[in-house]
Amino acid sequence: MTIEMELAGNWNYPTAIRFGAGRIRELPDACREMGMTRPLLVTDPGLAALPMIADAVAGCRGAGLGCELFADIQGNPVAANVDAGVAAFRAGGHDGVIAFGGGSALDVGKAVALMVGQTRPIWDFEDREDWYTRVDVDGMAAVVAVPTTAGTGSEVGRASVITDTRDHTKKIIFHPRMLPGRVIADPELTLGLPPDITAAVGMDALAHNLEAFCSPFYHPIAQGVALEGMRLIRKWLPAACRRGDDVTARAHMLVASTMGAAAFQKGLGAMHAMSHPCGAVLDTHHGLTNAVVMPYVLVFNRPAIEEKMTALARYLGLPAPSFGSVLDWVLDLREAIGIPADLAALGVAEDQIGQLAAMAVADPSVGGNPIPLTRANLTTLFMNAVRGRIE
Ligand SMILES: [Fe+2]
Repeated sequence: MTIEMELAGNWNYPTAIRFGAGRIRELPDACREMGMTRPLLVTDPGLAALPMIADAVAGCRGAGLGCELFADIQGNPVAANVDAGVAAFRAGGHDGVIAFGGGSALDVGKAVALMVGQTRPIWDFEDREDWYTRVDVDGMAAVVAVPTTAGTGSEVGRASVITDTRDHTKKIIFHPRMLPGRVIADPELTLGLPPDITAAVGMDALAHNLEAFCSPFYHPIAQGVALEGMRLIRKWLPAACRRGDDVTARAHMLVASTMGAAAFQKGLGAMHAMSHPCGAVLDTHHGLTNAVVMPYVLVFNRPAIEEKMTALARYLGLPAPSFGSVLDWVLDLREAIGIPADLAALGVAEDQIGQLAAMAVADPSVGGNPIPLTRANLTTLFMNAVRGRIE
């Protein structure tokens, strides 16, 4: 006999999460719990045109909250998007942020909440050494995060990725308190995501879990979370791509995405180190880029992750558990959900590799890769990924 589990819950790990279909109705409650009376809802222009945003704003206003909308942001967001959000926050006399959307909207929303009370420029809070201690914590506004894609996991992340247009790099803006105080994780909000975006963001979630799992740092809690996150993705990502209205598949992918971001406190690696420069220079989609480079990075890391991949293969129930069975699974999954096989398909040209490798080696994600990354081995990795050479 199988007992049907209700896919809902109230969790306090790693922050307070209200999980389950239909729970977006609890948004005004969550805002009040965070002490907000006038939240600024930050989202992207695409979502702003959809009924779910109008409903959320109306729901907040109906509950007596002075909710306004800010949607002047772009994919791969830049500092000017954050500045505009801060200006809207101040002009409207707001006292908190609802960060509502995919990775870009969540990251801008969190960065706006950070920046409303600071006097230093945003780049002073890059995730380097102890720069986060420069933040005036009292100036930070509260955040309620509402993810609408299952991939980024930014709703439980302590950072925002913002592109610096001066040198075309993606910079990680970090403070421990950027972790949103409340999350509403409602899988119904993800039902309308088209199959290609579902696939790309789902592979970002896989990249988070997989890179965290492979990172050499000591964090057994994250290690366990990553393993189960990958099991959920293996079981449910193809279904979520095939049948977008499958709320069960959507629910499992949404939590797997949250798990990926909770896990990557343990570290990321070469997938993200390669993906960030591609996004910054060529505006490629973050999750899609991770998905393309994933098998090349696995093969490169093979000498250091053989045992971990065998353990993962066992947990996933793959036949003949080994490094090879995980690689085969990743390649099959990539193909089944329509991810291109090489970076050339995303517009990366061989003459750009020198620049991309130089940027990748400076990316903060390199530290979590199980094999030390250099400009030379990243150049080889990029070359393989552009030419489609898995060896
Ligand atoms: Fe990512």
